[in-house]
Amino acid sequence: MKKLPDHLEFMVSETYRYFSHSPLREQKYASLYSTINVGEQPLQILQLSGRRWLAIAQCVSRILEQYDEFKLHFEISDDYTGYALSNFCIPRHYEGDLENVLIPWGLIQDRTERLARDIFHEIKDEPLTALCVLKGGYRFYTDLLDKLTTLNRFHASVSVPLHVDFIRLKSYENDDSTGKIRVIGGDNLNNLRNRNVLVVEDIIDTGRTMERLLAILKEHEPKSVKVASLLVKRRPDSTGYRPDYCGFEVPDRFVVGYALDYNEYFRDLNHICVINDSGKEKYKIPL
Ligand code: IMP
Repeated sequence: MKKLPDHLEFMVSETYRYFSHSPLREQKYASLYSTINVGEQPLQILQLSGRRWLAIAQCVSRILEQYDEFKLHFEISDDYTGYALSNFCIPRHYEGDLENVLIPWGLIQDRTERLARDIFHEIKDEPLTALCVLKGGYRFYTDLLDKLTTLNRFHASVSVPLHVDFIRLKSYENDDSTGKIRVIGGDNLNNLRNRNVLVVEDIIDTGRTMERLLAILKEHEPKSVKVASLLVKRRPDSTGYRPDYCGFEVPDRFVVGYALDYNEYFRDLNHICVINDSGKEKYKIPL
């Protein structure tokens, strides 16, 4: 496994973060990068302008392919059809409501273990307040914290003291973002003052919820804020927001299970699945 030279690490990660999702970001950062030299292979990223962001994303992907350890996320491609439901134990009450299993529970566990390790090594001995975004984030949160506390038990040299906090937001009705994000419960956010906060969320869709939440948190003057999201959806209308830690990047489909809901249904499903049209119809809120 090759190690990305230090001086390129920042450049590649920032390029990737800013260019892979939002064409709007390109103009802002285009002037920063012109050529990336990786070992003997110079990768030309010429005069960035207009809609060259896609070319940049492709170049960066090529770099990332060569440097396994630098892969920032786990991408599930748009043409991926998932696993047949018949291969897994699906609660009988949801059997007719799902298209496929996109991410089996076991894979979520394995990926979460790796995210916990990345967080653990980055935070080191600093106390950390893990803020769970309810309700969708609760299963990812408990599994992530479980894995962090396991690391705490087995590492003699590094130890991350953990505090837990919760916040409840509301933004979705049926499978549509309402655009209005409201804090509807949780702990007193003043507790976050001067703390290193790790926000734990189920999914970044357009990115609006997280951008709004980060603005709210900032008002309470935390020492630092990082975000771990189990999923990031590839949406054409994304704000371009990228979390610090991402479990899986997924296609633009409505997914349920592992605490992600459709109008409060499917939280009691272990795997992350794509909901089908009849499921959407069955559990729709009449408008
Ligand atoms: P955003 O503001 O568009 O990023 O939406 C984020 C919120 O929408 C998440 O916290 C979820 O509660 C909800 N959400 C977005 N997409 C999905 C999905 O595919 N399944 C379940 N909930 C979703």
